[in-house]
Amino acid sequence: MTKSLNAIAQKLMTPGKGILAADESENTIAKRFAKINLPNSLDLRRDYREMLFRSTEAMTNYISGAILTEETLEQRAADGTEFRAIMAETDVIPGIKVDRGAFPMPGDSGEKITEGLDGLRQRLERYAQLGAGFAKWRAVITINDIAPTRNNIRANAHALARYAILCQEAGIVPVVEPEVVGDGEPGNHSLERCANVTGDVLETVFKELRLSGVDLSGMLLKPNMVLSGVNSRDRPTVEDVARRTVQVLREHVPAAVPGIAFLSGGQTDEEATAHLSAMNQIDNKPWPLTFSYGRALQNVALRTWAGRRENFEPAQLAFTHRAKMNALAALGKWRP
Ligand code: 13P
Repeated sequence: MTKSLNAIAQKLMTPGKGILAADESENTIAKRFAKINLPNSLDLRRDYREMLFRSTEAMTNYISGAILTEETLEQRAADGTEFRAIMAETDVIPGIKVDRGAFPMPGDSGEKITEGLDGLRQRLERYAQLGAGFAKWRAVITINDIAPTRNNIRANAHALARYAILCQEAGIVPVVEPEVVGDGEPGNHSLERCANVTGDVLETVFKELRLSGVDLSGMLLKPNMVLSGVNSRDRPTVEDVARRTVQVLREHVPAAVPGIAFLSGGQTDEEATAHLSAMNQIDNKPWPLTFSYGRALQNVALRTWAGRRENFEPAQLAFTHRAKMNALAALGKWRP
């Protein structure tokens, strides 16, 4: 019998666990590899992800689900073992990124619209057969002097809702990711501006999800934290970020949503951990809060691996350390 959507969502939100986002597109992984002078080859992508998935301690104790790309979902480790089998051994639910990326929106506002709805119903059917329990679609919301525009927020929210209902139809839990970007250009916005935009975006997203008939108890939200832009003079404290983020979420995210798993969005590893822990120290929230980090889980592991299989062990130790710190933060138990 297939598990209910809510049961999968609950399992992804297992207390003290979170999600590993390892779904970098070919373009994104190429950028990450270029930083450590590695070419973007199929073998290196496989090795890198094998290193992560074979981190048995981290995957068993701290990770509930891993978001993969289409390539990785069907890929095998160097010894021929399917990645999906490796994940099954540690009881990690495989997820799949299904959007096709964010492309320039018509006009000159500098905004992006996420594509990938064409043929999505058929693709989801196949991902479900391959064992994907959940999926991810990322919408990118830009802040600049004229953005975000209402048109862009609506277009992205509408696409998220169409994606989410198709996932549920296929028995896959949609992770709904509207990211208000903080580390892009010009990045000079204040914490308050991010709070207002994030609130507006979440309001619009949930309106569209309801219109599409999405069952809120069978999805997860993957939002940005409320932060000032990377180039802003506004430098809020960890407590400011935690308080303002929880406040905005409380105002705009229905209690029926079974969980919230944040993206790290270019924060340093330690900032991402500190913010999550501080939010979890705030009482009486209607939903559990955990991580669904890409960079904040992988930065050190990627550099330690450096393209060499003989570095698997130290790289796995680095990944395990970050996963453990974030697992503590998911329980509100990490302290500097
Ligand atoms: P970061 O944590 O690196 O922002 O990535 C999370 C993610 O999945 C973005 O779509």
